[in-house]
Amino acid sequence: MENSIKPIGVFDSGVGGISVLRELVGQMPGEDFIYFGDSVHAPYGTKPLEEVRQLTITNVRFLLESGAKSIVVACNTATSAAVAQLRKMYPDVPLVGIEPAIKPAAMYKEDSCVVVMATPMTLKQEKFQNLMQQYKNMADIVPLPCPGLMEFVEHGVLGGEELTRYLEVLFASVNNKKIDSIVLGCTHYPFVKDVIQGIAGDRVMIFDGGEGTAREMKRRLKEAGLLNQSGKKGSVKFINSLDTDDELKLCRFLLTYKR
Ligand code: DGL
Repeated sequence: MENSIKPIGVFDSGVGGISVLRELVGQMPGEDFIYFGDSVHAPYGTKPLEEVRQLTITNVRFLLESGAKSIVVACNTATSAAVAQLRKMYPDVPLVGIEPAIKPAAMYKEDSCVVVMATPMTLKQEKFQNLMQQYKNMADIVPLPCPGLMEFVEHGVLGGEELTRYLEVLFASVNNKKIDSIVLGCTHYPFVKDVIQGIAGDRVMIFDGGEGTAREMKRRLKEAGLLNQSGKKGSVKFINSLDTDDELKLCRFLLTYKR
Protein backbone atom coordinates (compact mmCIF):
# COMPACT_ATOMS: atom_id res chain seq x y z
CA MET A 1 0.00 0.00 0.00
CA GLU A 2 1.34 3.41 -0.90
CA ASN A 3 2.21 5.20 2.34
CA SER A 4 0.31 8.44 1.64
CA ILE A 5 -3.06 6.68 1.42
CA LYS A 6 -2.66 5.01 4.81
CA PRO A 7 -4.74 6.42 7.70
CA ILE A 8 -3.66 8.93 10.32
CA GLY A 9 -3.72 7.33 13.79
CA VAL A 10 -5.26 9.36 16.61
CA PHE A 11 -5.00 8.31 20.25
CA ASP A 12 -6.62 9.42 23.50
CA SER A 13 -7.33 7.89 26.89
CA GLY A 14 -11.01 7.95 25.90
CA VAL A 15 -13.40 10.01 23.80
CA GLY A 16 -11.81 13.43 24.46
CA GLY A 17 -9.39 13.27 21.55
CA ILE A 18 -12.43 13.44 19.27
CA SER A 19 -12.29 17.23 19.86
CA VAL A 20 -8.91 17.10 18.08
CA LEU A 21 -10.16 14.63 15.49
CA ARG A 22 -12.87 17.15 14.54
CA GLU A 23 -10.16 19.69 13.76
CA LEU A 24 -8.09 17.13 11.86
CA VAL A 25 -11.04 16.11 9.67
CA GLY A 26 -11.90 19.78 9.11
CA GLN A 27 -8.39 20.61 7.94
CA MET A 28 -7.72 17.35 6.05
CA PRO A 29 -11.06 16.07 4.72
CA GLY A 30 -9.32 13.82 2.20
CA GLU A 31 -7.52 11.75 4.86
CA ASP A 32 -8.64 8.50 6.45
CA PHE A 33 -8.43 8.36 10.24
CA ILE A 34 -8.25 5.56 12.74
CA TYR A 35 -9.12 6.71 16.25
CA PHE A 36 -8.29 4.60 19.28
CA GLY A 37 -9.76 5.53 22.66
CA ASP A 38 -8.72 3.62 25.78
CA SER A 39 -11.90 4.17 27.78
CA VAL A 40 -11.38 0.94 29.75
CA HIS A 41 -8.32 2.49 31.43
CA ALA A 42 -9.59 6.09 31.57
CA PRO A 43 -8.95 8.36 33.35
CA TYR A 44 -5.21 8.51 32.74
CA GLY A 45 -4.80 11.85 34.48
CA THR A 46 -5.00 10.46 38.01
CA LYS A 47 -2.84 7.35 37.40
CA PRO A 48 0.88 6.89 38.16
CA LEU A 49 3.20 8.24 35.47
CA GLU A 50 4.78 4.90 34.54
CA GLU A 51 1.38 3.27 34.03
CA VAL A 52 0.24 6.07 31.70
CA ARG A 53 3.52 5.86 29.81
CA GLN A 54 3.15 2.10 29.24
CA LEU A 55 -0.51 2.35 28.23
CA THR A 56 0.31 5.13 25.76
CA ILE A 57 3.21 3.23 24.21
CA THR A 58 1.10 0.07 23.88
CA ASN A 59 -1.79 1.93 22.24
CA VAL A 60 0.39 3.90 19.83
CA ARG A 61 2.09 0.64 18.83
CA PHE A 62 -1.36 -0.82 18.14
CA LEU A 63 -2.22 2.11 15.83
CA LEU A 64 1.05 1.71 13.93
CA GLU A 65 0.52 -2.05 13.62
CA SER A 66 -2.96 -1.25 12.29
CA GLY A 67 -1.33 0.64 9.42
CA ALA A 68 -1.23 4.29 10.60
CA LYS A 69 1.22 6.46 8.62
CA SER A 70 1.43 9.06 11.39
CA ILE A 71 0.30 9.55 14.97
CA VAL A 72 -1.54 12.30 16.81
CA VAL A 73 -1.39 11.85 20.58
CA ALA A 74 -4.67 13.72 21.15
CA CYS A 75 -4.30 13.64 24.93
CA ASN A 76 -2.36 16.21 26.96
CA THR A 77 -1.80 13.68 29.75
CA ALA A 78 -0.39 10.95 27.49
CA THR A 79 1.72 13.52 25.63
CA SER A 80 3.32 14.79 28.81
CA ALA A 81 3.97 11.24 30.03
CA ALA A 82 5.23 9.53 26.89
CA VAL A 83 5.89 11.72 23.86
CA ALA A 84 9.66 11.90 24.43
CA GLN A 85 9.92 8.07 24.53
CA LEU A 86 7.67 7.70 21.50
CA ARG A 87 9.83 10.06 19.46
CA LYS A 88 12.88 7.96 20.34
CA MET A 89 11.08 4.71 19.50
CA TYR A 90 9.68 5.92 16.17
CA PRO A 91 12.02 8.58 14.78
CA ASP A 92 10.70 8.14 11.22
CA VAL A 93 7.00 8.44 12.02
CA PRO A 94 5.41 11.93 11.91
CA LEU A 95 4.21 12.18 15.50
CA VAL A 96 2.45 15.17 17.03
CA GLY A 97 1.38 15.54 20.65
CA ILE A 98 -0.89 18.13 22.22
CA GLU A 99 -0.02 20.54 25.01
CA PRO A 100 -2.00 23.25 26.78
CA ALA A 101 -2.36 26.33 24.54
CA ILE A 102 -0.70 28.72 26.99
CA LYS A 103 1.10 30.70 24.29
CA PRO A 104 -1.95 32.15 22.49
CA ALA A 105 -3.65 32.77 25.83
CA ALA A 106 -0.65 34.65 27.27
CA MET A 107 -0.28 36.66 24.06
CA TYR A 108 -3.95 37.52 23.79
CA LYS A 109 -3.76 40.21 26.46
CA GLU A 110 -0.85 41.85 28.26
CA ASP A 111 -0.39 41.10 31.99
CA SER A 112 -3.44 38.90 32.04
CA CYS A 113 -4.55 36.08 34.30
CA VAL A 114 -4.62 32.72 32.51
CA VAL A 115 -6.24 29.74 34.21
CA VAL A 116 -5.06 26.37 32.85
CA MET A 117 -7.57 23.56 33.35
CA ALA A 118 -5.97 20.12 32.99
CA THR A 119 -5.58 16.74 34.66
CA PRO A 120 -3.46 16.52 37.83
CA MET A 121 -0.87 14.48 35.89
CA THR A 122 -0.44 17.06 33.09
CA LEU A 123 0.06 19.88 35.57
CA LYS A 124 2.61 17.92 37.60
CA GLN A 125 4.87 16.99 34.69
CA GLU A 126 8.12 18.74 33.85
CA LYS A 127 6.82 19.47 30.34
CA PHE A 128 4.07 21.67 31.75
CA GLN A 129 6.33 23.27 34.36
CA ASN A 130 8.75 24.27 31.56
CA LEU A 131 5.92 25.65 29.46
CA MET A 132 4.68 27.70 32.38
CA GLN A 133 8.20 29.06 33.03
CA GLN A 134 8.39 30.25 29.44
CA TYR A 135 5.35 32.51 29.76
CA LYS A 136 5.38 33.44 33.42
CA ASN A 137 6.72 36.93 32.70
CA MET A 138 3.87 37.62 30.31
CA ALA A 139 0.93 36.47 32.41
CA ASP A 140 -0.19 35.24 35.81
CA ILE A 141 -0.60 31.54 34.98
CA VAL A 142 -2.83 29.64 37.40
CA PRO A 143 -2.94 25.83 37.09
CA LEU A 144 -6.36 24.38 37.93
CA PRO A 145 -6.38 20.58 38.29
CA CYS A 146 -9.74 19.09 37.34
CA PRO A 147 -9.89 15.50 38.63
CA GLY A 148 -13.30 14.08 37.75
CA LEU A 149 -14.15 16.42 34.88
CA MET A 150 -13.25 14.10 32.01
CA GLU A 151 -15.58 11.47 33.44
CA PHE A 152 -18.63 13.60 32.58
CA VAL A 153 -17.63 13.60 28.91
CA GLU A 154 -16.74 9.89 29.01
CA HIS A 155 -20.34 9.29 30.09
CA GLY A 156 -21.75 11.57 27.40
CA VAL A 157 -22.78 14.23 29.94
CA LEU A 158 -22.12 17.60 28.27
CA GLY A 159 -24.43 19.75 30.38
CA GLY A 160 -26.89 19.69 33.27
CA GLU A 161 -27.00 20.40 36.97
CA GLU A 162 -24.37 17.99 38.25
CA LEU A 163 -21.74 19.21 35.77
CA THR A 164 -22.56 22.86 36.47
CA ARG A 165 -22.26 22.25 40.21
CA TYR A 166 -18.90 20.47 39.75
CA LEU A 167 -17.54 23.44 37.77
CA GLU A 168 -18.92 26.02 40.20
CA VAL A 169 -17.13 24.33 43.09
CA LEU A 170 -13.94 24.08 40.99
CA PHE A 171 -13.98 27.76 40.03
CA ALA A 172 -14.70 28.82 43.61
CA SER A 173 -11.05 27.96 44.33
CA VAL A 174 -9.89 30.69 41.92
CA ASN A 175 -12.57 33.28 42.60
CA ASN A 176 -9.97 35.59 44.15
CA LYS A 177 -8.56 36.06 40.61
CA LYS A 178 -9.79 38.28 37.82
CA ILE A 179 -9.60 35.70 35.05
CA ASP A 180 -8.94 36.95 31.50
CA SER A 181 -8.60 33.63 29.74
CA ILE A 182 -8.92 29.89 30.26
CA VAL A 183 -6.84 27.21 28.57
CA LEU A 184 -8.56 23.87 28.11
CA GLY A 185 -5.53 21.67 28.75
CA CYS A 186 -7.34 18.35 28.36
CA THR A 187 -8.95 17.25 25.12
CA HIS A 188 -12.17 16.23 26.86
CA TYR A 189 -12.92 19.78 28.02
CA PRO A 190 -13.84 21.45 24.68
CA PHE A 191 -17.00 19.32 24.79
CA VAL A 192 -18.13 21.19 27.93
CA LYS A 193 -16.82 24.59 26.83
CA ASP A 194 -20.28 26.21 26.88
CA VAL A 195 -20.84 25.28 30.51
CA ILE A 196 -17.36 26.57 31.44
CA GLN A 197 -18.05 29.81 29.54
CA GLY A 198 -21.36 30.17 31.36
CA ILE A 199 -19.62 30.00 34.74
CA ALA A 200 -16.56 32.08 33.83
CA GLY A 201 -18.59 34.76 32.05
CA ASP A 202 -18.68 36.01 28.46
CA ARG A 203 -15.67 38.29 28.72
CA VAL A 204 -13.31 35.39 29.43
CA MET A 205 -11.57 34.01 26.31
CA ILE A 206 -11.25 30.22 26.09
CA PHE A 207 -8.39 28.53 24.23
CA ASP A 208 -7.67 24.94 23.33
CA GLY A 209 -4.85 23.28 21.43
CA GLY A 210 -6.86 21.17 18.96
CA GLU A 211 -6.68 23.48 15.98
CA GLY A 212 -2.92 24.08 16.32
CA THR A 213 -2.27 20.37 16.73
CA ALA A 214 -4.18 19.56 13.54
CA ARG A 215 -2.29 22.30 11.67
CA GLU A 216 1.02 20.84 12.86
CA MET A 217 0.06 17.31 11.73
CA LYS A 218 -0.87 18.66 8.30
CA ARG A 219 2.44 20.53 8.06
CA ARG A 220 4.41 17.41 9.04
CA LEU A 221 2.60 15.21 6.51
CA LYS A 222 3.16 17.74 3.75
CA GLU A 223 6.84 17.97 4.62
CA ALA A 224 7.14 14.15 4.48
CA GLY A 225 5.20 13.91 1.20
CA LEU A 226 2.54 11.88 3.01
CA LEU A 227 -0.63 13.91 2.37
CA ASN A 228 -3.31 11.83 0.70
CA GLN A 229 -3.69 13.19 -2.83
CA SER A 230 -6.37 10.76 -4.02
CA GLY A 231 -9.00 13.54 -4.13
CA LYS A 232 -11.57 11.28 -2.43
CA LYS A 233 -13.44 12.13 0.77
CA GLY A 234 -11.77 10.40 3.72
CA SER A 235 -13.27 8.17 6.42
CA VAL A 236 -13.10 7.79 10.20
CA LYS A 237 -12.81 4.43 11.91
CA PHE A 238 -13.38 4.30 15.68
CA ILE A 239 -11.89 1.63 17.91
CA ASN A 240 -12.35 1.73 21.68
CA SER A 241 -11.02 -0.64 24.32
CA LEU A 242 -14.56 -0.46 25.73
CA ASP A 243 -15.94 -2.32 22.76
CA THR A 244 -19.67 -1.69 23.16
CA ASP A 245 -22.26 -0.30 20.74
CA ASP A 246 -23.02 2.56 23.13
CA GLU A 247 -19.37 3.60 23.23
CA LEU A 248 -19.07 3.68 19.44
CA LYS A 249 -22.37 5.57 19.24
CA LEU A 250 -20.96 8.18 21.66
CA CYS A 251 -17.82 8.49 19.50
CA ARG A 252 -19.85 9.15 16.36
CA PHE A 253 -22.09 11.59 18.22
CA LEU A 254 -19.10 13.61 19.52
CA LEU A 255 -17.58 13.73 16.03
CA THR A 256 -20.61 15.34 14.46
CA TYR A 257 -22.66 17.11 17.12
CA LYS A 258 -23.21 20.86 16.79
CA ARG A 259 -22.92 23.11 19.81
N1 DGL B 1 -8.05 13.68 27.38
C1 DGL B 1 -6.96 13.65 28.25
C2 DGL B 1 -6.08 14.88 28.20
O1 DGL B 1 -6.06 15.58 27.19
C3 DGL B 1 -6.98 13.09 29.62
C4 DGL B 1 -8.10 12.63 30.35
C5 DGL B 1 -7.71 11.52 31.32
O2 DGL B 1 -7.59 10.41 30.87
O3 DGL B 1 -7.53 11.82 32.51
O4 DGL B 1 -5.37 15.15 29.10
